[in-house]
Amino acid sequence: MVHQIYAGKAKEMWTTEDEDVLRVVYLDQATALNGKKKDHINDKGKTNNAISTLIFKYFEANGIETHFIKKISDAEELVKKVKIISLEMITRNYSAGHFASRYGVEEGKKFTTPVEEMCLKSDELDDPAINASQAIALGIVTQAQLDTMWAISRKVDQLLTPLFEKADMQLIDFKLEFGTLPNGKIILADEFSPDNCRLWDTKTHHHLDKDVYRKDLGELTPVYQEVLQRLEKVILL
Ligand code: ATP
Ligand code: TYD
Repeated sequence: MVHQIYAGKAKEMWTTEDEDVLRVVYLDQATALNGKKKDHINDKGKTNNAISTLIFKYFEANGIETHFIKKISDAEELVKKVKIISLEMITRNYSAGHFASRYGVEEGKKFTTPVEEMCLKSDELDDPAINASQAIALGIVTQAQLDTMWAISRKVDQLLTPLFEKADMQLIDFKLEFGTLPNGKIILADEFSPDNCRLWDTKTHHHLDKDVYRKDLGELTPVYQEVLQRLEKVILL
């Protein structure tokens, strides 16, 4: 029987007739502060699904293996079921968010080498920061798996930074999630959308991402639709 396996903050995950395949439903919902701030946002689900589909297809076209199979409706896609590795892998090209507040620096400082950070995926613990030796000690990953995940993260950064530049956006930072296939291979999972990255307009430095919601800067969906339109002009598959 087809059933829901996870009701997330931004997506629902459903089984399908094929045990190796999940159906993802993108929700019209935004959350911040680990779910403490939560709102219904019209058309957010279909906009994020469209953005993530475009970017995951671009990854596949450029040799990055992902869980993506196909988009099946406005707000739904099919993905390969993976065992999610409980780490949020963050790459920062410019200071922003927690990096800026934690270290007392202004937002928008460009790093000569991207900063790499990890958080443990745990809503109960508020996604605490974790380093490589801690993650290995906890049995979450091996060093070899971490090496693979960071190599893919760097490839993503090198691929997307010039792509977003072409679309007049700076890729400030982003978060990736990885999972393992039954054969143990690590692939990119979850989504890539303005929910889990920061994008600034190159000229105005206006936020084109979830900071619009986090900081109450205005309506979210028109901003995400602007990102989608800009990407549609530069991703020609
Ligand atoms: P979390 O804090 O765990 O990321 P969330 O509620 O913020 O949860 P959502 O995006 O709403 O996140 O939920 C999607 C869930 O599905 C996440 O837990 C994510 O790790 C998981 N997931 C993503 N892709 C896959 C996949 N291919 N196979 C299995 N699980 C997946
Ligand atoms: P970060 O600055 O650490 O946290 P916050 O967004 O709460 O200030 O986030 C860096 C980037 O990673 C940002 O684009 C948001 C994304 N991210 C997620 O999508 N989920 C997460 O659980 C975390 C910790 C970060």
